[in-house]
Amino acid sequence: MRSPSTSCSVFADGAMAAGRVSLACGVAAALLCSAVLAFVEDLDDTFKETRVDDIWLVTFYAPWCGYCKKLEPVWNDVGMELKSSGSPVHVGKMDATAYSGMASEFGVRGYPTIKLLKGDLAYNYKGPRTKDDIVEFANRVSGPAVRPLPSKQMFEHMMKRHDVLFLYVGGESPLKEKYNDVASELIVYTYFFSASEEVLPESVKLPELPTVVVFKDGAHFTYDEYEDGSLSSWVNKERFQGYLQIDGFTLYELGETGKLVAIAVIDEKDPTEESGRLKGLIQRVAKEYREHFNRDFQFGHMDGNDYINSLIMGEVTVPSVIILNTSNEQYFLPSEPIETMEQLVQFISSVLNGSAQANGGDGFIQRIKRVAFDARSTIMSVFRSSPLLGCFLFGLPLGVISLMCYGICTAESDDGSDDIDALKREGLTDEEEEDEEEEDEERQRAAELEGPEEEEERRRRRRKRRIW
Ligand SMILES: *[C@@H]1O[C@H](CO)[C@@H](O)[C@H](O)[C@H]1NC(C)=O
Ligand SMILES: *[C@@H]1O[C@H](CO)[C@@H](O)[C@H](O)[C@H]1NC(C)=O
Repeated sequence: MRSPSTSCSVFADGAMAAGRVSLACGVAAALLCSAVLAFVEDLDDTFKETRVDDIWLVTFYAPWCGYCKKLEPVWNDVGMELKSSGSPVHVGKMDATAYSGMASEFGVRGYPTIKLLKGDLAYNYKGPRTKDDIVEFANRVSGPAVRPLPSKQMFEHMMKRHDVLFLYVGGESPLKEKYNDVASELIVYTYFFSASEEVLPESVKLPELPTVVVFKDGAHFTYDEYEDGSLSSWVNKERFQGYLQIDGFTLYELGETGKLVAIAVIDEKDPTEESGRLKGLIQRVAKEYREHFNRDFQFGHMDGNDYINSLIMGEVTVPSVIILNTSNEQYFLPSEPIETMEQLVQFISSVLNGSAQANGGDGFIQRIKRVAFDARSTIMSVFRSSPLLGCFLFGLPLGVISLMCYGICTAESDDGSDDIDALKREGLTDEEEEDEEEEDEERQRAAELEGPEEEEERRRRRRKRRIW
């Protein structure tokens, strides 16, 4: 699954190195700023030794990267917020181009890369780059992997705060150990809690203990080792609500669940109610057919078709339903517009049993198409945001190229075949001239000698020369 483009490539480093000189001018200004930025530490290659037992939230950036510049004020706010809330998390930033050895040791592959480092563990942050989201991530991941809920009130409180809540219920057990392991890995995605049975409301009946439960969509679902496979894959699939508003970021996150994503592409402001009706249909299927589809599908809607269009490099009508396979970038469209619940269920089933026609994919042709498509949209977006710059950037080289083409074409169209012959002749002249010179010499010598043996010898020598 392609991530929404919000980071700069590491591979652009070389090209940008040249531009770094101009940044020297900025250093003076940066020095002035650094007094203000005491909440964010500038890290260098001593960081590996100095960080020891502390928890660090670090952004690896490149000075030339636009996305990093955009993150900078947010990052300062994050540093300030964590400091003032008394969080144990230290906030830092590292110029990954200056300390590229360190950056590659931390597995940095794009800028900015945000990581929380806790002992031997490094957690990647992939969510939206807003202060609240990043602070929430830092608080969640820096805390204990599993948080105990000691009372009914505490449970109620957490239920209100979390749309999806994982809970281990029971005493010590192998399942609890497994739960701890899964939690310390998947805490990048969600919170994990534990409680005793007394803490739960009466309405929650659990078939057996110990168990792992997820509370979401106004219900609860228990983990079943035999049906659901490994605990970590179950958590990974259950960590979203059954129905979501989906944007580029969520779609990218959903991709990591390995589920197919069924999306109502709608217009929230559609006056005809068509959009609302389709959204309602998908919502109902998500809830009423959970048993059938939850394992394989995530449901939701997306406002507007811009994102989907660029994803499939085509055009979907609004409103309509599309099913995406984020693992291989294939997508499915219904053969006719969906009017009823039955049609929708039919469509989803046909994707599930493999009888629906798949489009797109991540094959070779599709990749070529993607490169061309991306290039086109880049050019289009430059033209849209600044037509003058667009003309200059793309118009000038295009003009030069077309002039060159024109020149070449008109030159060739005179008498193309003769040109080739002329070339051939030119290419051969040197050799032949030499040959002719030698032959002349030989003819002279032959004329001097005037004998049949010499004539024969001469021929032999010539033949030899040809071979060599
Ligand atoms: C989705 O893609 C994966 C990976 O290629 C594949 O194994 C799976 O069968 C696909 N699912 C559907 C319904 O096509
Ligand atoms: C797949 O599902 C569709 C819709 O339910 C059904 O019409 C079709 O017969 C099924 N095909 C196979 C091969 O099971």
